[in-house]
Amino acid sequence: MANNIRGFNSKFGTIMAATGGAVGLGNIWRFPYTAGSNGGGAFLIIYFLFVLFLGLPVMLSEETIGRRAQKNVLGAFKVLAPKHKIWMVPGLISIVTAIVIYSFYSVVAGWTLNYIIASASGLLSGKSPDEITEFFNTFTSNSIFPLIYQFIFLLLTIFIINRGVKDGIEKCTKILMPILLLLLIVMCIRSLTLEGAYKGVEFLFKPDFSKLDGNSILDALGQAMFSLSIGMGALITYGSYMLKQDNLFTTSLWIAGADTLVAILSGIAIFPAVFAFGLEPTSGPSLVYIVLPNVFNSMSGGTIFAVVFFILLTIAALTSTISLLEVPVLWANESFSWGRRKASLIFSALVFVLGIFCSLSFGCLSNFTICGKTVFDLFDFITANLLMPIGAIFFTLLIGWYLPKADVYDELSNSGAIKPKLFNIFYFIIRYIAPLALLVVLISGLL
Ligand code: TRP
Repeated sequence: MANNIRGFNSKFGTIMAATGGAVGLGNIWRFPYTAGSNGGGAFLIIYFLFVLFLGLPVMLSEETIGRRAQKNVLGAFKVLAPKHKIWMVPGLISIVTAIVIYSFYSVVAGWTLNYIIASASGLLSGKSPDEITEFFNTFTSNSIFPLIYQFIFLLLTIFIINRGVKDGIEKCTKILMPILLLLLIVMCIRSLTLEGAYKGVEFLFKPDFSKLDGNSILDALGQAMFSLSIGMGALITYGSYMLKQDNLFTTSLWIAGADTLVAILSGIAIFPAVFAFGLEPTSGPSLVYIVLPNVFNSMSGGTIFAVVFFILLTIAALTSTISLLEVPVLWANESFSWGRRKASLIFSALVFVLGIFCSLSFGCLSNFTICGKTVFDLFDFITANLLMPIGAIFFTLLIGWYLPKADVYDELSNSGAIKPKLFNIFYFIIRYIAPLALLVVLISGLL
């Protein structure tokens, strides 16, 4: 629809762009090991409940804020709550969160690029499990190479951001997301057809509630928020690009549904293969970079599947880094009239400098800790446990308590053009349940 000057061209493009932001390393790298270390099936049930009852309403709130205000994360609060300076806080937090997440996220994204090359050139094939672990440790603790890959990743993201919202973000995610799904399905079929695969399926889907404790519940919520990209204004930014005639309820359902589907498919691509070769599913962050290369080594056609898998992971990461960088870029563009090129270069430079510390956390700075955490872990902790819940609390308070209910309804019903049936349930959750639940998360995450 060419009449929409500001944002995306179509609902499909909107959903692909936003799903691209949501689907990322969180789904394919983080979800499987978090589910694995929390006992598999039972974790999945709790995760679903959080996506449905907390993730979706918060997502919808962010989109409502963005689309109503037609502005970047900080500008949106200025438009909607012009009288009270306190509402600058969530805007500022969002910008900081995006930059901090981007700086550690791009380190792992860079590793993935290296693994495409290493798998394609046969560097990993025929290696013993110890050698594969050694490869991972040597690479990640190196002071130079991971930074080069991270740098390349930042450049790729800048390249797409510079082409603009419609021609860069929307066009590119419209192509990449279907490819991602296709590659993932190929990986699932391979994994499910291995002998002994059923044990992995059982692990993923058969709930064992004895493995759950308070921490698993927090992990599930933290994972849901991270995976859906909520609590940091990415969806306020994209929300401001959403078309006025789109039904935000269905848009959000698509995004959350697709994100959850990809997480589950990643589990199906990974666990059956891991079990089929008698490996441990609970291997933490190295599941994808150490356990999986072992799996690929034992599988016929493993080299090809390894390359496919790491390309898939790269695509997932790239569509997410695009939406991370867009947050500060749009802010600077609207606040200081910086061009997209200038803004993307400046913020990427900042991310790169911070990223150096994150990357070196695996090498020469591994003993440099703040509050017992390396810089990488600290950035992860601060964003997931502090900034994202605080941001999300502000968003829910704005929608549930600050803005008049009639305004919220007006935005979600497209000024009366549609009748959102779930509005009352949504409003109740956002007003009473979500802020309290997020507060519990915030407090327990800090203890
Ligand atoms: N959701 C992304 C993932 O699953 C990570 C992420 C968290 C993110 N917050 C974000 C991406 C904000 C883009 C914007 O990998």
